[in-house]
Amino acid sequence: MLPEPTARLRFREMHADDLDAMAGLLGDPDVMRHYPAAKTRAEADDWIAWNERNYAEHGFGLWVVETPDGVFLGDCGLTWQVVDDARELEVGYHLLPRHQGHGYATEAALACRALAEREHLAERLVAIIAPDNIPSQRVAERIRLPFDRATVSRSGTPVVVHSAQLG
Ligand SMILES: CC(C)(COP(=O)(O)OP(=O)(O)OC[C@H]1O[C@@H](n2cnc3c(N)ncnc32)[C@H](O)[C@@H]1OP(=O)(O)O)[C@@H](O)C(=O)NCCC(=O)NCCS
Repeated sequence: MLPEPTARLRFREMHADDLDAMAGLLGDPDVMRHYPAAKTRAEADDWIAWNERNYAEHGFGLWVVETPDGVFLGDCGLTWQVVDDARELEVGYHLLPRHQGHGYATEAALACRALAEREHLAERLVAIIAPDNIPSQRVAERIRLPFDRATVSRSGTPVVVHSAQLG
């Protein structure tokens, strides 16, 4: 299962040979500024393995987002997360800094929302975001996931939850 390509983007599963690109993305201090730390190469490898398990177990995960001619932009996709003791379908997105500010995350996240609706993956879609991560909250709002509540993540950090019922 993959989101439909958009006018400017296509999706594909991430695999071991994406390690250089994914380590570059998740190791970038700017991309990871709302996470506890930038990821090491070994942690980026774990991220790929986690998504490969997600594809196998659920049929979806975070996918590589690239241009139609194969330029790596980042990742975006759907994963199960737990927030306030409930299992929720989350849309997530990370873009290389040089590819931010072009609307790619919104375009990719909308395609993921459409897939979740078309495949009836969940009744609700959420985005769980650090309170000061305004660019991410703006993406959520642009894909019609309005602010729902402020709460605390499983690791004890404050987060805001954006959510909407899926049609
Ligand atoms: C979250 C993140 C993906 C958002 O990236 P982004 O570039 O701001 O979002 P988009 O790709 O949707 O681009 C939207 C911006 O591009 C602008 N833009 C320029 N050309 C555009 C076009 N052709 N179409 C649409 N938007 C366009 C929009 O005006 C908007 O800018 P604004 O927010 O200043 O108004 C990015 O900040 C990121 O990777 N952060 C680090 C990882 C992260 O925190 N992920 C979320 C974890 S919860």
